Amino acid sequence: MLSESMLARLNTQINLEFYSSNLYLQMSAWADHNGLEGAASFLKAHAAEEMQHMQKLFDYVLETGGIPVLGAIEAPKSDFKSLREIFEMTLAHEKEITKAINDLVALSFETKDFSTFNFLQWYVAEQHEEENLFHTVIDKMDLLGEDPKNLFFIDREIAGLAHAHA
Ligand SMILES: [Fe+2]
Ligand SMILES: [Fe+2]
Repeated sequence: MLSESMLARLNTQINLEFYSSNLYLQMSAWADHNGLEGAASFLKAHAAEEMQHMQKLFDYVLETGGIPVLGAIEAPKSDFKSLREIFEMTLAHEKEITKAINDLVALSFETKDFSTFNFLQWYVAEQHEEENLFHTVIDKMDLLGEDPKNLFFIDREIAGLAHAHA
């Protein structure tokens, strides 16, 4: 059985995963519209992953006798300056999500909710992977440089990362 405060926090996390999914899907639209098909497919695939994160939490809440409650989801930004801006935002966003997960882990430990503590370990590992993945994208951009002519190659590299991760 989940405590009321844990249930509320898990519902907040469900909302955050929805937001992440919408943010990446919106970013994929920008990339697609700007001819960056590799980045678009990467971001779209990642949006689908975030929906799985949401679903996993949703199921866990139900399994532990709680009711997942879906609230209003903040609209993501839809206009971006560059692909660079997008990927810097994704990394910053994932760092925020990691913080939120860490806070949940701390609460589960402090309240001796070891079932939730155990459940959350999957998210701890996932956040480690995602921060690493988005770091890799930024590294590739640093390596290839800011020249717009290199965008074609950057886009192709990002498409490759999408396959490696899936
Ligand atoms: Fe996630
Ligand atoms: Fe994520």
